[in-house]
Amino acid sequence: MKALYFESFGGPEVLQYGDIADPVVKADTLLVKTTVIGLNFADIYRRRGHYHIEQHQPYIDGYEGIGIITAIGQAVSEYEVGERVLFVDVPFANAEVVAVPVDRAIRVPARLTDEEAVTVGLQGLTADFLAHDLAQNRPGDPVLVQGISGGVGQLLAQLLVADGQVVYGVASSATKAQAAYEIGAQQVFRREDDWSSTHQNYFRTAFDGAGVTLLDSLKVTQKRGRTVFYGMAGGNPPKVDPIALMKDSKNLMTGDLWDFLDSAKSRQARADRLFHYVLTQQVQAQPAKVYALAEGAQAHRDLEAGAYAGKLLLKP
Ligand SMILES: NC(=O)c1ccc[n+]([C@@H]2O[C@H](COP(=O)([O-])OP(=O)(O)OC[C@H]3O[C@@H](n4cnc5c(N)ncnc54)[C@H](OP(=O)(O)O)[C@@H]3O)[C@@H](O)[C@H]2O)c1
Repeated sequence: MKALYFESFGGPEVLQYGDIADPVVKADTLLVKTTVIGLNFADIYRRRGHYHIEQHQPYIDGYEGIGIITAIGQAVSEYEVGERVLFVDVPFANAEVVAVPVDRAIRVPARLTDEEAVTVGLQGLTADFLAHDLAQNRPGDPVLVQGISGGVGQLLAQLLVADGQVVYGVASSATKAQAAYEIGAQQVFRREDDWSSTHQNYFRTAFDGAGVTLLDSLKVTQKRGRTVFYGMAGGNPPKVDPIALMKDSKNLMTGDLWDFLDSAKSRQARADRLFHYVLTQQVQAQPAKVYALAEGAQAHRDLEAGAYAGKLLLKP
């Protein structure tokens, strides 16, 4: 099969496209011929060598995709060859064929296309656990989303709006701010403006996947409120002093989606909850930008440069 792989950590230039041996179907796996693969920020961290990556010679990045089952392990009874499944936490996804453990397969409603399902997949499940597991706000609560026009940011903002919260955001350009207003944001601050001084202790929850902005997020969080730190798309976060947090009764929460996708049942239930928002048009992802899998290095460059507000997809 063809795959996007790398032999040493580094910039996008380490990525190569070529032939790799097909994965083997084990008793509890499905072999899935991928039609669409999702590219995520974590793939960049892994390629740089800054994040956990499964040992494989050579390395194959990617955890998210959708496709058709072509073979089934002996112990699998829940699925049949020819069915379509989505996966968001299966390694070695940057390939034409992926071995998907059966408990990580997700069924997708027929009304969603392959591209739509992957466009909301991992980022949508992330937004769902941030909103519904970590934050648990009440209708009417003011909440802030750093990077509101990013992949997770825009889906999270729409979930929060649908749940009745008053959503504010931060964006780096007027175009991105406008896109956030169109999905229901109350106010969008421009990154270069001094908005945090005028909104100290204001938000019930500040969601921060940018990292470098963490001190600003804590500053604008209400006393007894929470900052939810979930990533470092803008760079590693500064050190935080817990004594200063205690003085103001501010909570810093973190979470990794992986720890919440802890069984086949919870994975499917979470996906169904997300798909409900999508099918009822309360959540609509921006159209994705599609690259051939062979052009994966360019897709990595564009994701790192923040060149496109929507999801980046790879097609085998
Ligand atoms: N914890 C988890 O389980 C989990 C799961 C999935 C993803 N994540 C994390 O979620 C984050 C977002 O992922 P994504 O897929 O949505 O990426 P994305 O689409 O590239 O979005 C990144 C966002 O970060 C903002 N940003 C980048 N540099 C910044 C800076 N210097 N200051 C302020 N904001 C900055 C961007 O703002 P502009 O658009 O305004 O430039 C953009 O909105 C990543 O850190 C990722 O690792 C975490």
